[in-house]
Amino acid sequence: MDDSTLLQTAVPLLTEWYRISKRTLPWRGTRDPYRIWVSEIMLQQTRVEAVKDYYLRFLQKFPTAEALAAASEEEVLKAWEGLGYYSRARNLHKAAKTVAEQGFPSTWEGVRSLAGVGDYTAGAICSIAYDLPCPAVDGNVLRILTRLFADESNTDDPKTRAEFSERLKRVYPAEAGDFCQALMELGAIVCVPNGKPLCGQCPWEELCRAHRAGEEERFPVKNEKRARKIVNAEVLVLRREGRYALEKRTEKGLLAGLWQFPFFEGSAPALGEIIALKRARHVFTHVEWHMTGKLAEAEEFYPQYVWESAETIRTAYALPSAFKAFMQWLK
Ligand code: ADE
Repeated sequence: MDDSTLLQTAVPLLTEWYRISKRTLPWRGTRDPYRIWVSEIMLQQTRVEAVKDYYLRFLQKFPTAEALAAASEEEVLKAWEGLGYYSRARNLHKAAKTVAEQGFPSTWEGVRSLAGVGDYTAGAICSIAYDLPCPAVDGNVLRILTRLFADESNTDDPKTRAEFSERLKRVYPAEAGDFCQALMELGAIVCVPNGKPLCGQCPWEELCRAHRAGEEERFPVKNEKRARKIVNAEVLVLRREGRYALEKRTEKGLLAGLWQFPFFEGSAPALGEIIALKRARHVFTHVEWHMTGKLAEAEEFYPQYVWESAETIRTAYALPSAFKAFMQWLK
C-alpha cells in the first residue's frame, strides 16, 4: 500500500474509533472558541489529568474573554498557580484583551496571531471550534504517524512536522474537530510514549508498519536527549511574628515575576536561627533544582522582602509548585 492510500485508509478507522473510545473531558462538547483556547493553552505542557480541575475552576472564575481581560495579572496567576509555565497565563491574559475588543478571530491566521498561540494550538482551536482543516501536529501526533508509516525522519527537525502537517491537510475530513482530537486521543491512550503501546486496542493495528515489523518502540526517531542541568539551591522560609518573607523573581526565564521564598543558588546567608531543615527536588524540563529548605526565625523584618501572613500567602500570592514542599511550615 502506498503512503497516500495508507493515510486515506487510516483516517475513517481513526475517527470511528474515536467516537466509540474517547474519554469524556470537560472541554469536549463545547464549540466555544474561548473555552477551547483556554483548554489548549493549559494542555500545552500539562497532562490531561492535571488540567481538568484547573480548567473548570478557571472558567468559573473567568467565563468569557471579557471577564479574563478585566482581571488583574495577580488574579490570573493565582488561578494558574501550580500549573507551571506561567508565561502561558500571561499571554492568555494579554490575548484576552485583544479578544475582548475585537471578538475571537475566525481564521487560522487570526487565531495564530494571538499571544501564546503557535501553529499547533492554532490548528487545534480552528479544527475543534470551527471544523477547519488545520492540522495540529505535536510530539504525540508525530509519534503515531511515524509509527504508522515506520518513518525514520527526525521528529525534532521542524521540517518533519511541516511535512506531516501537509500530508494531514490533504486527508482532513469534514469532521475536522473529531479528527484532530482523535489523533491526540490515540497518542494519549493507545499509542503511548515510554513503554509498550497498546497495539491490541489500536484501530490501525493491521495498517501500522512499525507494528507489523514489531518495531513500534523504535519510533519516533529523535535527537539524543541532553542531561538536565542540576542546580543546588537553598530556600529560606523566614518567619517573624506570624509573618513570612517573600520575594519576587526578577530574572528572565522560567518563573519570572512569580513570588517565592528567598531563594539562593548555592548557599543562603544566615538571616536567623534555623529551626527545621527539609530537602526537596523539583524537575523542570531542562533543569533540576535540588533544594534545601531552611525554616528560620528572622532577626528582623528584612526590608528587601515582603512580609505576609500564611493566610494571605495562601490566598493572594502565586507560588510555583517547586516551593510546595515548604508551604507546610506556614502556620
Ligand atoms: N492535548 C492537547 N489538546 C488536547 C485535547 N483537546 N484533548 C485531549 N488532549 C489534548
